Amino acid sequence: MTADFPNLTVVTHPLVQHKLTWLRSVDTNTDSFRNLLREVSQMLVYEATRDLPTEPQTITTPITTMDSPVISGKKLCLVSILRAGNGMLDGALALLPLARVGHIGLYRDPETLEPVEYYFKTPADMSERQVLVVDPMLATGNSAVAAIDRIKEVGCTSIKLISLLAAPEGVANMLKHHPDVPIVTAALDSHLNEHGYIVPGLGDAGDRIFGTV
Ligand code: URA
Repeated sequence: MTADFPNLTVVTHPLVQHKLTWLRSVDTNTDSFRNLLREVSQMLVYEATRDLPTEPQTITTPITTMDSPVISGKKLCLVSILRAGNGMLDGALALLPLARVGHIGLYRDPETLEPVEYYFKTPADMSERQVLVVDPMLATGNSAVAAIDRIKEVGCTSIKLISLLAAPEGVANMLKHHPDVPIVTAALDSHLNEHGYIVPGLGDAGDRIFGTV
């Protein structure tokens, strides 16, 4: 947690920071970008799942019998905010192979600048699941706020947001609308520019993942 933002955890681990440097670099090609994003996503999910409950399970080792912890509590669902969120799914699923996956598609109305939903597909039992929303760039936060509004509408009460990079504007927006949703990120950047891009950032995450620049 940071002093300004009680909803924010910045993962300062050197491996995350090293890989983030190369994600930011304009010299990193699409293939490397995808691989680095997958690796960092895995580490962010590791941090975001730190507080999952466990319960003892009795097992037998080759030496003896013992009670050893296994994850308990609600089942997990990853929700990707299209399209850049999909770049984080493989890394997340590597750690959480049994998680279900939902997708939410939103675009920004050019007139109102408000997010408009064009796709929403999640498992039926969302109210019984712990949800991890993945979206690499928390910029204005409008998409994340709208996506989490919808996830709450279908009954979810336990939600976290995992973003590679966050802008203060987006974190403040989330704190205002969803103070109960913790955010895990690799860096809190300086600000948004006049086009809504994170500074220093890494450019358009979707374009860098899918090579559509
Ligand atoms: N979305 C991006 O892909 N990059 C930004 O900097 C902001 C929003």
